[in-house]
Amino acid sequence: MTKLAIACDHGGYALKEKIKQEFSGLDWLDLGTDSDESVDYPAFGKAMGEAITNGDAPRGIVICGSGIGISIAANRFPAVRAALCTSVEMAELSRQHNNANVLALGARITDEETAMACVRAFLATEFEGGRHERRVSQL
Ligand code: RB5
Repeated sequence: MTKLAIACDHGGYALKEKIKQEFSGLDWLDLGTDSDESVDYPAFGKAMGEAITNGDAPRGIVICGSGIGISIAANRFPAVRAALCTSVEMAELSRQHNNANVLALGARITDEETAMACVRAFLATEFEGGRHERRVSQL
């Protein structure tokens, strides 16, 4: 079963719960937050960074209101390649070209249907390697 870490702040809480429900067949490592009470997104981006760095899950999803703050926080960890995606094409490209291991979503920016489609694309799309491997290795 695919293991996937997931983390959010209050702005992303509702979408996190809906994603877990929609993809209930996956083995979720839920790093919080656990309600829509206001919290600070850096702590949850950090939790994702630590989970990826420690190998607790190979890939993850981070969500905040815009997707910006929590992706910045997660990307401070060298093992993380978090891609903030607002379309299926971006989610596919993040895998094909960047070997993204964390999908970042903005719950106040991206509608639910698009967010679900981004998750599906992120999970289904393989890294193309080749010239992209050379570039990713320079990050
Ligand atoms: C919280 O209000 C909001 O600032 C946060 O969810 C996120 O959008 C930050 O980048």
